Amino acid sequence: MKIKSFAPGKVILFGEHSVVHKKPAIAVAINRGVTTQLESREDNIVTISVPLINYSQQYELVNKKLLFELDSQNKMITDYIYEVIDLFEFETGFDLTVNIEMYLGAGLGSSAAVTVSCIKALSVFNHIEMDKKEIAKTARNIEIKIQGAASPIDTSMSTYGGIIYIDENFELERVNFDMDLPLIVSNCEISGNTGQLVESVRQTYVKYPEIVGNIFNAMQEIAKKAKSAFENGDSELIGDLMNLNQGLLDSIGVNTVELSDMVYLSRKYGAKGSKLTGSGGGGCIIAYCPENIEEIYEQLNKKYPTFKCEQSDNGVCAQVIEK
Ligand code: MEV
Repeated sequence: MKIKSFAPGKVILFGEHSVVHKKPAIAVAINRGVTTQLESREDNIVTISVPLINYSQQYELVNKKLLFELDSQNKMITDYIYEVIDLFEFETGFDLTVNIEMYLGAGLGSSAAVTVSCIKALSVFNHIEMDKKEIAKTARNIEIKIQGAASPIDTSMSTYGGIIYIDENFELERVNFDMDLPLIVSNCEISGNTGQLVESVRQTYVKYPEIVGNIFNAMQEIAKKAKSAFENGDSELIGDLMNLNQGLLDSIGVNTVELSDMVYLSRKYGAKGSKLTGSGGGGCIIAYCPENIEEIYEQLNKKYPTFKCEQSDNGVCAQVIEK
């Protein structure tokens, strides 16, 4: 049996940081993510490889289970794979290859995409029907187990796909959008520490409650307006709102020289809107490029690892290539 599954990554288009303070946000699943290939074997050997990080391991099944120990100090992307494997029992061995087709640890939801894609491949392999609700919940529990805390955003985006509006109570609502969303993601290859950044924003809020409170309110208005902009297909407004959100993120201290460089470079060559995405302090920017995408891509890619992408409407999916 041969199975291939895909789960998308995500970008936050509006509302990072303010979402922590109960304001709405908008996230978009992208057509870059994680493809998992699984091929059954006739023996009881299990091999696991992750080419992006040159990882490969081989085990033997013992009583239908794979026995492994995780390093509790050093969290690795492979921990998510092992936790998924631990959900199942196996009659035969298999070769599992997890291809991560985006940047790791750069705010694009790579761990959620790995988890969701592996759950899909392994459940199909074991003839277990899991609906999307169950996949999202299982993946979220694994993220909580490994990370200690996790919002449902990343695992929901990888499972359901599309554009999602997260309201002030963390309820997720699908946003209808009938146009293409040509995006560019550029990575400055410096990692921001999400926990520290969230804490430093909290401290600024405590120090200047009226000012920062109003900045969060403005971010809220942006996210709400952006939802209608998507529903009305108003690309001009989507771009303007991204630029406004970027200015506000800068004002609360999560922007960096490198992120600004990428943002201004993309705007110089024609991006309609561009901003940092995720926690900031490093990581990626997202540029909305309905025009001139090739030139913007080339200019950014000269200095920073860059890819083009669009929204992924479908979420996780699997294909049985050989029975
Ligand atoms: C990080 O990707 C986004 C933040 O808003 C934190 C969070 O929502 O958990 C900064």
